[in-house]
Amino acid sequence: MTSSLDRLRPELRKLSAYQVADASGLMKLDAMENPYDWSPELRQAWLQHLAQAQLNRYPQPDPAALKEKLRSRFGPHSDAAIILGNGSDELIQLLALAVAKPGACALNVSPSFSMYSIIAELVGLKNVVVDLDQRFELNIEAMLAAIDEHDPALIFLAYPNNPTGNLWPREDIYRILEASSGLVVIDEAYGPFAADSFTDDLVRYENALLLRTASKLGLAGIRFGWLAAAPALMAELNKIRLPYNINELTQLTMDFALDHYEVFAQQAKQICASRSHMLKILGSLEGVKVYPSEANFVLIRLLHKDATELFQELRDEDAILIKNLSKQAGLTQCLRLTVGTEIENQTLCEAITRRL
Ligand SMILES: Cc1ncc(COP(=O)(O)O)c(C=O)c1O
Repeated sequence: MTSSLDRLRPELRKLSAYQVADASGLMKLDAMENPYDWSPELRQAWLQHLAQAQLNRYPQPDPAALKEKLRSRFGPHSDAAIILGNGSDELIQLLALAVAKPGACALNVSPSFSMYSIIAELVGLKNVVVDLDQRFELNIEAMLAAIDEHDPALIFLAYPNNPTGNLWPREDIYRILEASSGLVVIDEAYGPFAADSFTDDLVRYENALLLRTASKLGLAGIRFGWLAAAPALMAELNKIRLPYNINELTQLTMDFALDHYEVFAQQAKQICASRSHMLKILGSLEGVKVYPSEANFVLIRLLHKDATELFQELRDEDAILIKNLSKQAGLTQCLRLTVGTEIENQTLCEAITRRL
């Protein structure tokens, strides 16, 4: 007798699920969320805005006004088209589904955002991964060689990269765009905290796609991301998107948030200032290597103490949850710290200092 499990695709049986730690009762500094709440007045205004929701009706299938509002805030100002996603991870899945012909390949780097590889494998793409160098820079010659050898249909580059926090040289990204005939996704999830963007380059490269999310800006709870690229390509990709993928409450909340963008911009500015402060404090500690960051998190490597031990002490004794990356390839003894409120950052830095 075959079991129902035997009916599932073998790739699925081999994969491990994306792990989300239980944060109950802990100071949550593991998932790059914006730590700031809204003022009571803003919350009240938002609830009033939501009151117009028609929950008995399907949401707008492709909300043109919201897309235009998004474009006027973030670009692109060229004639690139936009597709909305239920979080940017839905758009990563959509892209992978679009190119998953038999034998097709996806390329990303290591270490990077784990969902690129998980989704590529899940849809049956051959998944090629090129290691970053010791300083987490792109190994550009190895990338070009992999493009030449595998002719990837899809390349994912997080700019800045998660979990390393750095921006790679623009010139390297241009070389990848020029060498590749496949789709090159520049994932600017951490764009609100970075000094650079590829938004204006979409016009120059018809194979470039820009991926953004509202999650890190401060709206992780609504699940909203967007993809921008050349209209002809997007018209095809849009066929994969499920008709009502952005629910009514998310559409209304995003619309409201764009009308109050200055609140989020101010919070992002504060997060960048706190990041500089954290980099300075952690950088002065004996036994900690701190990596530069253009994102809302800081990657550290412990030089003497065991990272898993520190992670567990922080969680179990100080009730602080950070991300332990030390078991991942290339990240031995590494921990990722999300930038929180000033008081949270101070508590975290003091706890680390005490426990080293
Ligand atoms: C580089 C990168 N891209 C995309 C995402 C997914 O973001 P979301 O699905 O919340 O839009 C993440 C989440 O951590 C990320 O680090």
